[in-house]
Amino acid sequence: IRVLSVASEMFPFVKTGGLGDVVGSLPAALHTEGVLVTTLLPGYPAVLDALEGPVRVAEMSPLPGVEIALLEGYAAGHRLLVIDCPSLFRRKGNPYLAPDGTDWPDNGLRFACLSRVAASLAQGHVPGRRPDLVMTHDWQAALTGAYLHYDGQPAAPVVQTIHNLAFQGRFPVADLERFGLPPHAFSIDGVECYGEVGFLKAGLLFAARIVTVSPTYAREIQSPEWGMGLDGLLRSRADRLRGILNGIDTNDWNPETDPSVLFPYQVGDLAGRRPNKRAFQAEFGLRQDPDVFLLGLVSRLTGQKGVDILADIIPHILDDRTQLVVVGSGEVGMERALARLARQYPDRLACHIGYSEQLGHRIQASADALLLPSRFEPCGLTQLCAVRYGCVPIASRVGGLADTIIDANEAAMASDVATGFLFSPVDGETLAGAIRRAATLYRQPARWAGLQRNGARYDVSWGRKAQEYARLFRRVLGRAEVGMA
Ligand code: ADP
Ligand code: GLC
Repeated sequence: IRVLSVASEMFPFVKTGGLGDVVGSLPAALHTEGVLVTTLLPGYPAVLDALEGPVRVAEMSPLPGVEIALLEGYAAGHRLLVIDCPSLFRRKGNPYLAPDGTDWPDNGLRFACLSRVAASLAQGHVPGRRPDLVMTHDWQAALTGAYLHYDGQPAAPVVQTIHNLAFQGRFPVADLERFGLPPHAFSIDGVECYGEVGFLKAGLLFAARIVTVSPTYAREIQSPEWGMGLDGLLRSRADRLRGILNGIDTNDWNPETDPSVLFPYQVGDLAGRRPNKRAFQAEFGLRQDPDVFLLGLVSRLTGQKGVDILADIIPHILDDRTQLVVVGSGEVGMERALARLARQYPDRLACHIGYSEQLGHRIQASADALLLPSRFEPCGLTQLCAVRYGCVPIASRVGGLADTIIDANEAAMASDVATGFLFSPVDGETLAGAIRRAATLYRQPARWAGLQRNGARYDVSWGRKAQEYARLFRRVLGRAEVGMA
C-alpha cells in the first residue's frame, strides 16, 4: 500500500510537539507492515535544507494566485514530497508562529495550500505519484477531504488523524474563495463551523475514517465536555472513528545509545540511572543527593498540560527531600510564574525555560518520577519515554495517559503490574495526593523498583500499533488482510 502522509511538522526537521514525533516515527514502523509512506510537507527552510538531491516533479497553481513547485527527495531516510513556495513557507523558526509569538496571519492560506496539493496528488494529477490512501494529520491537512468532495473526481480515500481537537483551524468566511472552495461549501454539511471555515471540521466530515491517538480520547471527544464543539459530528460518525495509541521510536529512545544520556545504561538497569541523576542535579544547581525524590516535567507550558495546577502547589509539595526540574516553554504567564518560583525555592526547583531536545531526553534518564498533570491528553508521548527510561509517571487519568499507565493501587501492586500513578479529578489537591503517594513508595526501594521494572517491560514501540494502522488501511481499501492472525 502506498500512503501519502500529509503533515505540518515532522521530526527531525521541524517539531513543536508530539505531532512531529509521530509523523517522523510512524513511516518506518508502517514499512515493516508493507505500507510505503511518502510524507508531504511544506517547504520550510529546515525541510528544504535537509532534502538530498531534490527533483522537481511538478509545478502547479493550487490556489488562486499561489504558484508552487513540488520537490521530491529523501531526507534522514524519509521519502518526502515538499511544497516549495517561498512566499508561504520560507520562514525560519516555529512553523505556525511569527517571531512575536502570534499566529502567522496567512496560516489559513498556508495550510489550505498544503491540503490542496495533497488533494491533487490523491486525484492522480502528478503522474506516478498517486497514493492508494491519504493520511491527513490534524487541522493543517484536514481540508484535503473537502477539496476531494467538492471536486467530485475519483481519488484515493482519506484517513483523518486527530492529534489534538483543541486546534481546529478556523478562519473567516471571507477567505473561502482564497481557499479555492465553492460558495456552496459554506454550509452545515460542508466546511462551515460555528460561522467560520473549519478545517478540522471538514476533515472529520469528509474522511473515510477518523483515527485519534488513544481509545480513551476517542470516547472523550464524543462528549460535550471534551468535544470542543465537534462532539455532535464525532458522535454521528462514531462507527468511522477509533483510537490507536501512539508508539515511540525505540532507537531514538534507547538509554544505551542516546547521545543525550551522560551515563548510558540498558533499559531496565536501575542502578545505571544513579550517575545520571547525580549529574542532572549538578547541572541544575540542585543538591546532589541520591535520596532526594527528584521530580521532572518536560512539556509545553499550557493550560492543556495543567502546568498552572502544578505551579499552584509547588510550595506545598517541595521540601528538603523533594526536588523538581522543569524543562518547558509556552505561555508567557506560565514561564514567568515558574521562573519566579525557581528564584523563590532555588534549592528545590530548577527550570530550563525553552525547548531543548537534549534536556528532554536527559530528564527521562535522571528524574525519579515524571509529572503529567494534563487537563486532557490525546495520547502523550513523554510518559512512554519515561517508563522506558525507568522514570515513573505521575499523571492525570485522562486520554492516552489512562490507557498507557497502570496505577499503583493495591490490586495492581499485589499482582505486580503497576507502572505509575494516576489521579482524578485533575486539581491541585489530587495531584499533591498522587505525589505524596509516589513519595511514600519511593521510600520503599523494592516496591519502587517493581514499578520501574514493569514500566521497562511495557511495550512503547510502534510495533502493534503500526499493525493496527495497516489493518485499517487495508480495510478502507477493501483489500484482504494478509498474514493477520
Ligand atoms: P504534545 O504534543 O501535546 O506537546 P506529547 O507528549 O505528545 O505532547 O509530545 C511532546 C513532545 O515534545 C515530546 O517528545 C517531548 O519530549 C517534547 N517536548 C515538549 N516540550 C519540550 C521542551 N521544552 N524541550 C524538549 N522537548 C520538549
Ligand atoms: C498532540 C497531543 C498529544 C499527542 C500528540 C501526538 O500534540 O497533545 O497528546 O501525543 O499530539 O499524537
